[in-house]
Amino acid sequence: MKNKIIFATGNKGKVKEIQEILKDLNYEVLTMKEAGIEIAIEENGKTYEENALIKARSVAQHTDAIVMADDSGLEVDAMDKSPGVLSARFMGEDTSYRIKNAEIIRRLEGKEGDERSARFVCAIAAVFPDKSEVTTRATIEGLIGYEEQGENGFGYDPIFYVPEFGKTTAQLSPEEKNQVSHRGKALRLMKEELMKYESNHCK
Ligand code: IMP
Repeated sequence: MKNKIIFATGNKGKVKEIQEILKDLNYEVLTMKEAGIEIAIEENGKTYEENALIKARSVAQHTDAIVMADDSGLEVDAMDKSPGVLSARFMGEDTSYRIKNAEIIRRLEGKEGDERSARFVCAIAAVFPDKSEVTTRATIEGLIGYEEQGENGFGYDPIFYVPEFGKTTAQLSPEEKNQVSHRGKALRLMKEELMKYESNHCK
């Protein structure tokens, strides 16, 4: 029988990403809904790690399975690293990313080259059945573009230009983005933590 991991999100895309990364291990990855856990969680932490832990701990209260959660955001250096942990709420949760992206481009008017530096950050938290906890974090560095480019991805991807590729993350295929993204890298670090937990507990 497969062991279960519940990913504390309603986002099927995130669950798919982690399924792909963990596919060579014996785990079934479920959303909260699929696991029959429907609770509202307030993300009021000050750091990505705090928010990821808040989500994972809330769900872990309802299950003995492994629970994972992530929190991510965009840090624009010229904007004092905002919107940061408030990325989803920047200018209002329901405001379109066309408008949010245009506002970030506007705030960077007159800035060139490295003055446009930014990064995506992702932290992932896991709560294991013995209630031990671990977090991982990864980033991808880039520059804020001068206009939106690309149709893939979501959120701030169309304005996040990665010089190594000469493309925005919205111009990468999902597979290419997973290889280099903050979330893909943090998930692969979490896979290592999962393997360590397994080797310590499943003898
Ligand atoms: P959360 O981690 O689901 O709370 O979302 C954080 C927010 O950060 C998202 O709603 C996006 O606005 C932004 N964000 C995080 N990762 C990405 C990404 O890979 N591309 C574009 N925007 C992102």
